[in-house]
Amino acid sequence: MTRILCLALLLFAPLVGAEAPRAPATPPHQGGVASANAYATDAGLEILAKGGNAFDAAVAVSATLGLVEPESSGLGGGGFLLLHVAKDGRDVFVDARERAPLASARDMFLDAAGNADRKKSTEGALAAGIPGTPAALEHLAVRYGKLPLSESLAPAIRLAREGWKFGPKNAAMLGFRRDAIAATPAAAALFLRDGQVPAQGTLMRNEDYARTLERIAREGADGFYRGDYARRLVAGVRKAGGIWTESDLAEYRVVERAPLRFKHRGFEIVTAPPPSSGGVALATILNVLEPYGYEKMDKVPRTHLVVEAMRRAYRDRAVYLGDPDFAQVPVPLLTSRDYAAGLRAGISAERATPSDMLPGVTAAASRPDTTHFSIIDAEGNLAAVTQTVNLPYGNSLVVPGTGFLLNNEMDDFSVKPGVPNAFGLVGDDANAIAPGKRPLSSMTPTFLIGKDRVAVLGTPGGSRIVTMVLLGLFELMDGGGAQAAADAPRFHHQYLPDQLSAEPEAFTAEEAAQLKARGHDVQIGDRSWGNMQVVMWHRDTGKVEAGTDPRWKGVGKGSSSDAASIYR
Ligand code: DON
Repeated sequence: MTRILCLALLLFAPLVGAEAPRAPATPPHQGGVASANAYATDAGLEILAKGGNAFDAAVAVSATLGLVEPESSGLGGGGFLLLHVAKDGRDVFVDARERAPLASARDMFLDAAGNADRKKSTEGALAAGIPGTPAALEHLAVRYGKLPLSESLAPAIRLAREGWKFGPKNAAMLGFRRDAIAATPAAAALFLRDGQVPAQGTLMRNEDYARTLERIAREGADGFYRGDYARRLVAGVRKAGGIWTESDLAEYRVVERAPLRFKHRGFEIVTAPPPSSGGVALATILNVLEPYGYEKMDKVPRTHLVVEAMRRAYRDRAVYLGDPDFAQVPVPLLTSRDYAAGLRAGISAERATPSDMLPGVTAAASRPDTTHFSIIDAEGNLAAVTQTVNLPYGNSLVVPGTGFLLNNEMDDFSVKPGVPNAFGLVGDDANAIAPGKRPLSSMTPTFLIGKDRVAVLGTPGGSRIVTMVLLGLFELMDGGGAQAAADAPRFHHQYLPDQLSAEPEAFTAEEAAQLKARGHDVQIGDRSWGNMQVVMWHRDTGKVEAGTDPRWKGVGKGSSSDAASIYR
């Protein structure tokens, strides 16, 4: 009997993991771009109209965001790119995450008494990992695009010279980092006016950025990672107290990884594998929730179960997750239904489980920045890209003559077991610093594939990225559109601190009281979070819709454009 069973399993095994049929009933009638800044969305639409595909448009959007949203991402940072290549039906995850410099060491952010020095891991040269975004631009263009970089980078180069208007989000984020930026002359020259945050509407130009992009357009990524330019970058970082070497830059490569994919409620979810924690946590949470039939439950009992699932997934993040090229990350186990059943067995339907009752990492939360954009083209190519310099305006360091900020992604490592990072996240050995290692990330670019709808989504928000994507997926699976997913109110639990945090609109007073009665430490904040960007293709009609997060009023832009049909 067992043998027959084994044979049956073997025979049917290929079917179990088989992809849902992806051939579109009706190809997208239009392209769609949603990004956190209207200049960047327009750059993407321009490239689609010129005959570029979604990947060329992604180059344009990425490079433009680096200019007009310098608080969130740029050439000095990194990111994850989830791509669907329509012509061969392939999904690929491009890991352009920063790497720890080769001279980095596990305890580099501990002082003599062994205490974590948060300033060192977030401000200045030591905080910077080796950037991945310039390599990602070349990779996108050469492997997947149709246009040369000189064309896809042209809108960003033009805008850097003609100038762009400083907006409310640039100003709000700069407010938090003004002192650090003011202390760095090259950064102050780029982003401050008379030492102050520029007035909204101020015309900003960045000739150095235009020249850096022209160099990448001419020489590809080598123009950045090798030769004179690399020497200048390394010298600038070392002068500021950093440890980069030319080998760090010359050795940097993006890594293509298989995306994580799983099924839920008749949908296929394609999402980020490690070194993102996002996909694993999404799979754990949804597997835990599946048998409850949560989608039909009332809001309070449903929220309670969702929070209990979040708590457990974030505990696992803290204990097990890190760069898979360095740490043994048990992905198949953590994403299996059997494992979820074990977690579910410990959940009470009535009472919150205190986080300190879950075996894990002990410890004790954020002013974040990062950016996400979603693109679809009329060939059915999809791009979900989350890119970052980590905290607003990264490490506030600009190497003179380059035109961009460096990141402070080193703070995404666990600088000491159990000591929370800027997002209150704790970690252990799996995410300890090592030379050449990628810090664990929460960035979760994701595709939701249903029978008649395909959605591309993601958001910034540090540790809350995963739970925001989760809530966006709920909205989409419940039948909501792209805008509804971006609008949906947000709540979050990350194991430690043991708090159920929520946006002001997420719960009524009555709902909050009922959740407190179940033992949740409900913390309703006075601010909203995230910046979700969603595009959706209706496979039955070919219609494309785009949704942009309303929380930064009028700064982002989601647009489906007939311009894209010009080349069809
Ligand atoms: O990779 C990560 O998880 C973080 N560096 C992302 C930071 C972030 O989203 C800040 N955003 N609002």
